[in-house]
This record gives sequence, C-alpha cells and structure tokens, in this order.
Amino acid sequence: MKNELIDRITNIFHETFGRAPIHLVRAPGRVNLLGEHVDYNDGFVLPAAIDRATYIAVSPTNTALSTLVAVDFNQQASFSPQTIPSKTQAEGSPLPEWAHYPAGVMWSLNEDQLETNGINAVYASDVPRGSGLSSSASVEMAFMLAWQTLSNWTLPPMQRALLGQKAENQYVGVNCGIMDQFASACGVENKLLLLDCRSLEWKTIPLPEDVSIVIADTTVRRKLTSGEYNKRRAACEEAVRLLKQDLPNIRSLRDVSVEEFNRFADKLPEEVSKRARHVVEEIERSNQAEALLEAGNIQRFGELMNQCHASLRDFYEVSSPELNAMASIAQSLDGCYGARLTGAGFGGCTANLVAREKADEFARTLGARYKAETGLHPEIYITRASNGAELLT
Ligand code: GLA
Repeated sequence: MKNELIDRITNIFHETFGRAPIHLVRAPGRVNLLGEHVDYNDGFVLPAAIDRATYIAVSPTNTALSTLVAVDFNQQASFSPQTIPSKTQAEGSPLPEWAHYPAGVMWSLNEDQLETNGINAVYASDVPRGSGLSSSASVEMAFMLAWQTLSNWTLPPMQRALLGQKAENQYVGVNCGIMDQFASACGVENKLLLLDCRSLEWKTIPLPEDVSIVIADTTVRRKLTSGEYNKRRAACEEAVRLLKQDLPNIRSLRDVSVEEFNRFADKLPEEVSKRARHVVEEIERSNQAEALLEAGNIQRFGELMNQCHASLRDFYEVSSPELNAMASIAQSLDGCYGARLTGAGFGGCTANLVAREKADEFARTLGARYKAETGLHPEIYITRASNGAELLT
C-alpha cells in the first residue's frame, strides 16, 4: 500500500508539474489505547503512531503561491499567505474543505511569524477519513514538515504538534486536544507514547512483544461530528466551573479525584455529571497504565480498556451500535485482552489488544462475526507502532 501510494503521488506530481518532486514526506495516523477524551482535560493519553500515513510529494516554487493536488479527492487548490485568512483560493473562489487542513497549517505558521514558502505538492493517505485514526492530524503534520523542510526555520516535533492543534482549533474549527498531532509528530517505532497533556512531558513505553494491536474498522464513518465533539468539551468546562464552588483550587477535571467527584456529582446537571464522570474515571485508569505495562500485567490493562469502552458508551455517549458490536464481539474472543472504540467516537474503529499468537485468528473470527451481526464488511488489520512525521528523501 505504502509503495503504491508513493508511486502514485510521484507520478501525478510529474504529470501535474512537469518534473519529479524533490522531497517525499510521511506523517502517520494514530491509535489510542487508553485515555480517551481526556487530552483536553489535562489528563494522560497512551497512543501510538500507526503504519498508515499521509504521504506528500513536494517541491518549492519561487513564488508565494502553493498549489496542492489532493489525490483522494481528485481536486486541486492554490492559495498563499494573502488568501488564507479569508479561506479563499488565489483566484477568489472558496477553499475546498479538504484544503482547510494544509491552509490551516500555513495560517498557524504565519501567525507565529514563520515563513511558508510556496510549494507544489501532491498528497494521498491510507488513513481512512472519519475513522478515528486521526487522518486530519496526519495531513497537518505532513504539511508542517513539508513547509519546515522547504523554509528557513526548524521546530521541535512537539512545537509542530501544538501549531497543528492551533490550526485545527482556530482555522478548521474543531476544538480538539493535543493527542493526535502529538502522536503523528512524535511517534516512535514499536513504542507506545505516554503523554501528560498538562505538562506535555512524554515518554515511550515498549509494547510487550507477545501482544499485537489490532485495528477493527466498523466501516461506518463519523459524520459532521465537530459539533458533538465541541459540546463534550463544553460540558467538561461546565463541570469544572460548577465543581469549583466546592473545590476552588481545581483548574481542570484532572484535579478532581474519583472520591471527590463522587462527593459532589449530585450537584451537577445529569448530563454534565455523566460526561465528567467518564473523564475523572478515565484519567484514573490512564494513571495506572504505565505501572501495569511495566509489570507486564496486560490482563488488567485490557480490563481497563474494556471499562473505557463501557464508559464512552454509557457516560460520554460517543459510541455507536456498530462500535458496540465490534467491541463486544472482540471482548468475547480467545486471546483478546481488551477492546474499545478509539479516537473521538461516533463511528470509525476499535483498538484491540490481542495475544500475538492469536492475532490472525482473532482478526478472522472478529471479521466474520461482525459481518454476520451487522451485514457490513469490516476491515481488520494488525498494526505496527511507527515513527512520527519524517522526510523519506
Ligand atoms: C479526537 C481529538 C483528540 C482527542 C480524541 C478523543 O481524536 O482530535 O484531541 O480529544 O478525539 O480522545
């Protein structure tokens, strides 16, 4: 898949711009094992960059204009630092929606006084869109690296991640946390990443050799969910505002223990209370992750993943019938330690932690049973933790 994609974008680059591209850039999607919907609550997350990515074939131009071909949309767009604030193309028409991600990256860099030279670029991705695997962060981190490579500044990966998040928050309009851009920028081969979303300190944790991460795609795509996502975030902020009456020192739900929450939960409106309960308990679960993995206690870690799914389903209410079917079939299968929806929810994929020697059989049986139950044809694959954004040439 990877080599096919690279050949494809290289050929299209040649056809469109009349020469070979100078650079190839890759930035991965991510899967998250624990710590869901806690990044914007200052919690801990445990994602890994995956072996599916956005690839860009790119060369500099000597004008301010950037011309992009999005192979997956079969469309082209041109913009410059002058046209992006109004979300328009060089000739005045509105930017197509896919172009908001690369244009947002240019906007965010320019806001920080970082120059973005004009580029010619062709890009494509094998991270399915709307599947909870952060296809948009992978596009952002790929363009961030492309502009860095062709301009006169260099930023550490975490800084690129933060500027990508700013692009998504302020230009695209999704109030996301830092997890996706972080994983896409900072991923490390064969490692899980443990990020403290408050201090932004992070470390790698080796993925135990005898387990595999299996991604199971329900094939039901998330639709227009930025509204629901932003509402969840607002509910968390509301919970903090109300809990401050009794716990004046809290800055975010990270500062509320499960015990304190239980004491004051009744004072919150029901919906706000359910949302906050998920966050407080999920931060408590993700707090245990490192010690459990270090002790090799995959069994218990997997149970926490299962609890996370139930909490996302019942309290945070971001699951779907298909995600629930996929997770509960998986949880009943031999060799599966834990299964849960991954990413924002509302559709997309589950992440499964499976004994390595059982992984192939697990994937086959899960696929067959999901198909029998839902009539849908899922895509199920064993993924590898990969490096973050990188220059391939
Ligand atoms: C999306 C957001 C992330 C994070 C997850 C849920 O992927 O982009 O910042 O909030 O949802 O954990």
